[in-house]
Amino acid sequence: MKDFYEKLLDWYLENQRELPWREDPTPYHVWLSEIMLQQTRVEAAREYYLRFLNRLPDVSSLAEASEDTCLKLWEGLGYYSRVRNMKRAASEVMEKFGGNIPNTSAELIRLPGIGQYTSAAIASIAFGERIPAVDGNLLRIYSRLEMYEENIRTPAAFRKALEYYTDRMPKNTTKTGKGNPCGNFNQALMDLGNAVCLPNTAPECGNCPISEFCRTHRERPGMEADLPVIPAGKGKKEERLTVFLIRSEGRTAVRKRPARGLLAGLYEFPSAAGELETEDAVKWLREHSVEPIRIKKIIDAEHIFTHKKWIMRGYEVTMDSFSEENVPFIMASEEEIAQKYCIPSAFGAYLKWMDLKKNNSIY
Ligand code: ADE
Repeated sequence: MKDFYEKLLDWYLENQRELPWREDPTPYHVWLSEIMLQQTRVEAAREYYLRFLNRLPDVSSLAEASEDTCLKLWEGLGYYSRVRNMKRAASEVMEKFGGNIPNTSAELIRLPGIGQYTSAAIASIAFGERIPAVDGNLLRIYSRLEMYEENIRTPAAFRKALEYYTDRMPKNTTKTGKGNPCGNFNQALMDLGNAVCLPNTAPECGNCPISEFCRTHRERPGMEADLPVIPAGKGKKEERLTVFLIRSEGRTAVRKRPARGLLAGLYEFPSAAGELETEDAVKWLREHSVEPIRIKKIIDAEHIFTHKKWIMRGYEVTMDSFSEENVPFIMASEEEIAQKYCIPSAFGAYLKWMDLKKNNSIY
């Protein structure tokens, strides 16, 4: 067991990735990074992380920030309930814990948006707790190490992986010259999953510091990529919609989405259900008090969510002058769209289209 973690930790000290949240792993920094990394690649999270901290450097500033500020800082990362929950949890930390983020996984898991994985990641990386942070990487590595051939996406598989890693974690949790043993153990496995024990392709077993402990490598060399076993998921539901870029006097219409459901509370370009032909599109616009002087079909786009897929048809609509009372939308300036209203990436193709048009690189 000792050999296992020593080999893993030696590899980590040589090969760890340089990541901004590793430079100063305060509880708030680790928490923010772990929430961002839940559905986002490390490379994409870097800049968001730095920008977020620049604007909201600590728990109290997050607790006090407006929801729109938080959403704007999250714009493009998706899964916006992550930042909403984080803000709620920050208020709870201020009220119940005097502004100090709790230092055990058992307390952390009771805060909004912090589940089993995240509580373990924060507790081990920020506080040195001896608890494995079992995510998809650790499950994949476990399945190969132990030649686990059953469905990996089950509570039983999770428990086995948790037990396996708990047995192998350093017993001495005090921070030494080699850093934080248990936090490093978890992060070493995350980095190993990213660089060596790769998903979907042949893992690089020749570069693996713990291949001697890997049952699949020993008993079925060359077959490591067959694991883990992941059953095929259900297909995604498709939804078709028509997106309108309604423009007047240099402004573009946006509206706030309902407080519940997909992309709740974020801003969007007005949209109608179904892929409408021009005639029906005009009808929809008139029903929403927009009298188009010009309507033009623009790009189609798609966006894939966890459980559904949007297939979008776009129209650019020019309307004459408008008055705020008559139009049921917010007519936002370019600056407001850039700074104030959080428009999720599902509409990214249309934001990009507007940018390209502005810079005259299309037409
Ligand atoms: N993925 C999730 N958390 C991570 C971390 N702390 N380091 C690297 N990758 C991660």
